[in-house]
Amino acid sequence: MQKQTYLVLFLFFFIGCKKPTQTVLKKESYQGLITKNAMVVSARIEASKIGSTIMKKGGNAFDAMVATELALAVAYPFAGNLGGGGFMVYRKANGEIGSIDYREKAPLASTKNMFLNSNNDIIPEKSTLGAMAIGVPGTIAGVFAVHEKLGSLPIKELLTPVIELAYKGVVVTKKQEERIKFYQPLFRKANKDSIIFDKQWKANDTIKYPALAKTLERILKNGRDEFYKGLTAKLLVKFIQENGGIITEDDLSKYQAVWRTPISFTYDDLKIISMPPPSSGGVCLAQIMKMIEPYELDAYGHNSTKSIQVITEAERRAYADRSYYLGDPDFVKMPIKTLISEAYLNKRMSNFSFEKASLSSDVTHGNIQIIESDETTHYSIVDQFGNAISATTTLNGAYGSKLYCSELGFFLNNEMDDFSSKPGVPNMFGLIGAEANSIAPEKRMLSSMTPTIVEKNNALYMTVGTPGGSTIITSVLQTILNVHEFKMGMQEAVNAPRFHHQWLPDEIRIEPKVFDKLVINQLKKRGYYINEKDSPIIGKVDGILVLKDKSYEGGADKRGDDAAVGF
Ligand code: GLY
Repeated sequence: MQKQTYLVLFLFFFIGCKKPTQTVLKKESYQGLITKNAMVVSARIEASKIGSTIMKKGGNAFDAMVATELALAVAYPFAGNLGGGGFMVYRKANGEIGSIDYREKAPLASTKNMFLNSNNDIIPEKSTLGAMAIGVPGTIAGVFAVHEKLGSLPIKELLTPVIELAYKGVVVTKKQEERIKFYQPLFRKANKDSIIFDKQWKANDTIKYPALAKTLERILKNGRDEFYKGLTAKLLVKFIQENGGIITEDDLSKYQAVWRTPISFTYDDLKIISMPPPSSGGVCLAQIMKMIEPYELDAYGHNSTKSIQVITEAERRAYADRSYYLGDPDFVKMPIKTLISEAYLNKRMSNFSFEKASLSSDVTHGNIQIIESDETTHYSIVDQFGNAISATTTLNGAYGSKLYCSELGFFLNNEMDDFSSKPGVPNMFGLIGAEANSIAPEKRMLSSMTPTIVEKNNALYMTVGTPGGSTIITSVLQTILNVHEFKMGMQEAVNAPRFHHQWLPDEIRIEPKVFDKLVINQLKKRGYYINEKDSPIIGKVDGILVLKDKSYEGGADKRGDDAAVGF
């Protein structure tokens, strides 16, 4: 990640917070919202409230998903979106599971080397800033597909509160004030004309979004095709092309969200259900969890030297495979069954020793590093009927490509950067990609988004996910382990300090000043490089846990403005 991004994250999440998160505070102080019937946990209270109200009116978790996703586009333009894409995993009350992929796609006119110059070098910022960085957006197709298949209320009931919110406006938080200020130079660089976010917004100001409200009104009137074939499509294509992009009306009209079979696997007595490719999340999570399953993490202790070693070594090996093997299943053949098989993973861990760190240079595959943006957003929902969803949605970087269509009222993604522009060269998250994730027309770029649902004894146990680019998978992992191995509640599990290893660079990133110094020294002695500088926060996890009495506990990450609302 760019140095400035780390700096700003540090400012938002540490200077702004009176107390850094610690594991040792009294348990009671970590309890999240408890409700009996239903809950939404998302990045903004406005979105959680809208989703919860939909369920109170009799809607189900899928209705609430549509409303929450679009409310985040209004209340959380940093990552919530109409101009991006995402993934959702669900578990219905009857135990049926599924997932939907509304990931962006490369435009028809894209080419493998479109971000390289004549010397075969990456052209700085071309895949991150401005119109060439945009993938064909999937969010509207995604939410309409969910509504058609699984929703129960009329779409009007779901969109009306979102449109009202856009007209009424959203109050700026302190964190948002800082974020807007930090990214203003890039807004000016990416946009020819001034945009609403160029103004010096302060905490407690209200930003109104009438252009976005009008776009949503047209979508309400004309359905999902308004975005892909209607006036909105025409205005969007004109805007992108005027800014030097290559997306056409054909690209939009061909876009389809895809229902996919989730990755599911067991860990002790849990069943984990997560997102399959084109997200690497489910496969990578399965690999890591199966590699660590034979070890006594609970006996080693939470964030102890031995636990960190086992988890780190499993992460190192899984991320090496991720980079080499994974991509869009519609384009690439992947040996997923083998990758998540016990035989393969036991062999993979056979050279691990507690005495000494493995070296990433000794761990094949691949020859490739991973880089992805941190500025995604996640929300979790359970309803009064027993359905659960876990959805992660993104513009990729903060405010995506920074290109804002003022006429339509939303930012466009910079998801093209999640392809490996040049195999072997890291992207903005430091992730290295291989041939499997090279650019091709209509291909979906590899993701790390890991919306996940956990079952215990064949019943719903947890729904969880997070933003965080390449750290998404390891944050979801640690949250599940915190509950299962270390017996934390949901909010406590979310609050606990996190660390991350992704094979390359060969370092353990840790949240600063919250890990035991003795543990850090022991890890260093065993040959681990500890990076405490570059990870002021790792993820912003939003999850819901089913408690013993069948009530729900929300975990809303205080690293952000996240909030749980329910009844
Ligand atoms: N853009 C971040 C991800 O898809 O993982």
